[in-house]
Amino acid sequence: MAKVISYANQKGGVGKSTLCIQTAFYLSLKMKKKVLVIDMDGQGNTSSRLAPRVVDDHGNFDTILSGTKTASLFQDELEAVEVIHCPAGMDLIHTPKNDPALFEMEAVPLDKAMNPAKNLASLFEQYDYVLIDCPPSLGRKLVAALVMSTHVVCPVKLSGFAVDGVEGLLNTIIGIREAYNAQLDILGIIINDMDRSVNHDRSLKELQSSVPDLLFKNIIMHRPPLDTAITEGIPVWELRYGHVAAKEVELVLNELMVKVG
Ligand SMILES: Nc1ncnc2c1ncn2[C@@H]1O[C@H](COP(=O)(O)OP(=O)(O)OP(=O)(O)O)[C@@H](O)[C@H]1O
Ligand SMILES: [Mg+2]
Repeated sequence: MAKVISYANQKGGVGKSTLCIQTAFYLSLKMKKKVLVIDMDGQGNTSSRLAPRVVDDHGNFDTILSGTKTASLFQDELEAVEVIHCPAGMDLIHTPKNDPALFEMEAVPLDKAMNPAKNLASLFEQYDYVLIDCPPSLGRKLVAALVMSTHVVCPVKLSGFAVDGVEGLLNTIIGIREAYNAQLDILGIIINDMDRSVNHDRSLKELQSSVPDLLFKNIIMHRPPLDTAITEGIPVWELRYGHVAAKEVELVLNELMVKVG
């Protein structure tokens, strides 16, 4: 059965998409696993990074998006789900850039959030891993993602309010687990984009004392090559100057895979 991992945090810019995309590269290219990525974020960043491209003479590219959109998964009846086969080997259920239809899903009745799980159940049987990139909110789409997940991981960027944010997030996840998905395994918190500032150091110590069991041992520091890799839509280990970033990402992903089992 597929392991279904959601990347969740209601805060924006903490590394959900970055980690989701790098996990997808790692599993499909290095581990040769069959991977499906679901872009649950109306911004559509993950889709534009992974989908096939056409490049013009000036080096500008357009992404080719086709098949079922994530917003359609919320329909009561969906006859067939058509995925995109991405050049790096994984499959994708995409969201077009700034898709109003997916943003509107936050306003649908709660029972509609159960539809993606129903519509995707048979498709999931074809995969080793399903990775869900969640939006920066605690709404219907997060419920939809967690209802169909076996695991959830929370990338966190340190700040003065990190502890409050993490507590709110964990309470929401636990609430969804209790209501809809008792099997959901909370893998924990990945500290990402950390620097050596006094603020980050203090915030890390606070998290270490408030949620010690949930913190991943490995941390990803602020590494500009990781940003370059995500902007270009490539694995971080393919960059010539990305060794340190690649090593940190690899250690985190190894730890993630051990936890997933
Ligand atoms: N460790 C890091 N070092 C440097 N830049 C990073 C790091 N992690 C992420 N970034 C950059 O920070 C930005 C935000 O990351 P990302 O898009 O993954 O966050 P997100 O949580 O998915 O945001 P959103 O909630 O808006 O979808 C991106 O430009 C990304 O390349
Ligand atoms: Mg994102």
